[in-house]
Amino acid sequence: MQEGQASRTADRVAERRAAHQVRDRPLVFEDPLALRIIRPEVARELREDPPAHDSSPIAPYLRAFFAMRSRFAEDALREAVGHGVQQYVVLGAGFDTFAYRNPYPDLRVFEVDHPATQSTKRERLASGEITIPLSLTFVAIDFATTALDDALRNAGFDAAAPAFFAWLGVVPYLERPAIDQTLSFIASLPPGTAVVFDYSVPPESLSWMSRLVFHKMAKRVAAAGEPWKTFFDPGELLRHLHDLGFSNAEDFDGDALNRRFFAGRSDKLKVGGGGHMAMARV
Ligand SMILES: C[S@@+](CC[C@H](N)C(=O)[O-])C[C@H]1O[C@@H](n2cnc3c(N)ncnc32)[C@H](O)[C@@H]1O
Repeated sequence: MQEGQASRTADRVAERRAAHQVRDRPLVFEDPLALRIIRPEVARELREDPPAHDSSPIAPYLRAFFAMRSRFAEDALREAVGHGVQQYVVLGAGFDTFAYRNPYPDLRVFEVDHPATQSTKRERLASGEITIPLSLTFVAIDFATTALDDALRNAGFDAAAPAFFAWLGVVPYLERPAIDQTLSFIASLPPGTAVVFDYSVPPESLSWMSRLVFHKMAKRVAAAGEPWKTFFDPGELLRHLHDLGFSNAEDFDGDALNRRFFAGRSDKLKVGGGGHMAMARV
């Protein structure tokens, strides 16, 4: 994050989810607000000339991953709500729009984000004429310096009740102690609590083609002032999640995600190999 500036990667991710709405069929992730929350000039370009938006060879892989991870989280959230969870915490929410589409009458949503990103989001919501529902609470913190538990409790989060957490596109940008602090807090919550997050495997473990894509992406995010800092080996991560106190942890690699979300498509949209999804339950 650059001092005093909203996250640029949050914009890019949201723009790719918006591009998914106009470029890909069938949709993996349906978001009727995706075009209204992004920068208006990009939304215009996407509406008028979708293929002009990003014609780089890696663009479909990025759209696929960002659409898939939001769908992954919202599918898992639906299951959690079905089991009685009434609190949803979106960590590093960026321009995520779930809170403004929330179909669950009893679900409270907490959007936790860096103050700079959150303030730009509020401006976008206003200019996109998107209503802020009463079920939503904004929590502005810097994960690197502020403990999540205090911030959430001050915002009315009930630490005695289970909650579902989505932490999408944030873990790679944080140092290990900040990641562990947040995961330990989540693991300390009552049974029924779960967290979904995405992460990258170490580049050395990738095929040369995936490594090429990785280095291209790593250069882009570093140039945006948000370098990737942390990678996990999947086996080591699962053991670590158990050590932190989660009773169940699952890892989903590119092949598993492609089988689950992209099978049988004629456009061949799919995710690459470097990004994984993890889900841990208390
Ligand atoms: C790549 S964006 C992902 C946004 C969103 N989760 C999504 O999938 O669209 C990363 C998000 O993490 C937030 N973030 C990064 N570092 C942070 C920090 N130290 N404290 C709080 N938020 C942070 C940014 O503000 C941004 O919203």
